[in-house]
Amino acid sequence: MLALLLVLRLIHILAAATLVGSVIFNYFLLRPALRLIPPAHAVVIAQRVGSLFTYTGWTALVLLFLSGLLQLYYTGRLWLLISLDLYTHGPGRSLALMLLFWLITVTSSSIMTFGLRPKLMKKLTVSSNPTLADVEKRRADQISASAWLDRWQLVNLITSTLALIAGASIAFGGLF
Ligand code: HEM
Repeated sequence: MLALLLVLRLIHILAAATLVGSVIFNYFLLRPALRLIPPAHAVVIAQRVGSLFTYTGWTALVLLFLSGLLQLYYTGRLWLLISLDLYTHGPGRSLALMLLFWLITVTSSSIMTFGLRPKLMKKLTVSSNPTLADVEKRRADQISASAWLDRWQLVNLITSTLALIAGASIAFGGLF
């Protein structure tokens, strides 16, 4: 049982490190670097890296949820999630905070993956005979989607970091 809990804890910590590490890399290193190269190249790199990041980010979010739930289950604390007792002590409040920030991260990731990225990836098919207006409209949509992606990436950066801080504080009695 102890070995199982250790494995779940390691999965949880590795997934948290992967998620927070990659959003920090994306926001503070990749984003400014893309500004320094020609836009046509930047779009291709942003599309490729974005696709990879979609897989790693979602895998980390799913693993965080499953390893978190299983840790609660195997320590007999799963019931806390549906009880007000969760909020009566510091560690419980920080656990709730971690869950809330996870939920916000999942929401902003969904907006990026299913709302904004398809607009960024949109290709004009030659067979549809696009007009200049079509090409310009797609370009304007892509620029707007890219600006919104930046904003939601910042949301992800803040919420996943706050989830990490709340999680790390649990073993020390919680944040408040
Ligand atoms: C972005 C999402 C999340 C991040 C960054 C995160 C991060 C962390 C961190 C850093 C720890 C401390 C690890 C340790 O010292 O063992 C932790 C502990 C934990 N997390 Fe999360 N977590 C997230 C989401 C979740 C979710 C969704 C759940 C539950 C469904 C969950 C349940 C737990 C549990 C049960 C612990 C162990 C608490 C204890 O020490 O008793 N976490 N988390």
